[in-house]
Amino acid sequence: MSIGKLTTAVLTVLLAAVFTFAQSGAPTKEIKHVPIKATSAASGSEMYKTYCAVCHGTDGKGNGPAADALKVPATDLTMLAMKAGGKYPSLKVAGVIRGEEGMPAHGSKDMPMWGNLFHSMSGGHEAEVQQRIANLVKHIETLQQK
Ligand code: HEC
Repeated sequence: MSIGKLTTAVLTVLLAAVFTFAQSGAPTKEIKHVPIKATSAASGSEMYKTYCAVCHGTDGKGNGPAADALKVPATDLTMLAMKAGGKYPSLKVAGVIRGEEGMPAHGSKDMPMWGNLFHSMSGGHEAEVQQRIANLVKHIETLQQK
């Protein structure tokens, strides 16, 4: 029997936007919980596209397909450096991704707490969790408006 097949942890995360049709016939958008997909910890852009773009948009401007189903708007990630006076706040961004940085949205769970998800994905390897977060932080830095 092959052991090559990875057992994917059953993790659910808000990742897909779907259209549902209410009885009135008017389309309403809903966020669907789907199992988390495995990605390479080495690729910030692959992780961003897979996990973040649905809300924050591929370009980071906050207009992903799920954006209008959120209670709190998904932050425009291209403005983080500008808002911080020109210096990209990498430590704060890392904290937010991990889920340590206190944000009001964490109460409403609109912005998922990625630290826990990445922790389960890596089978508890903290070094891999850190690599994932570091590469995401670097990818978001490339999206900054000057
Ligand atoms: C389900 C939608 C959703 C997904 C998926 C999502 N976010 Fe967010 N994110 C939000 C919302 C909503 C906020 C705004 C929170 C607030 O303003 O209180 C936010 C805020 C943030 C912030 C804070 C910006 C600031 O103001 O300092 C960062 C950084 C961020 N997200 C990064 C990410 C990264 C990286 C991913 C992917 C690993 C991701 N987000 C995935 C919804 C999402």
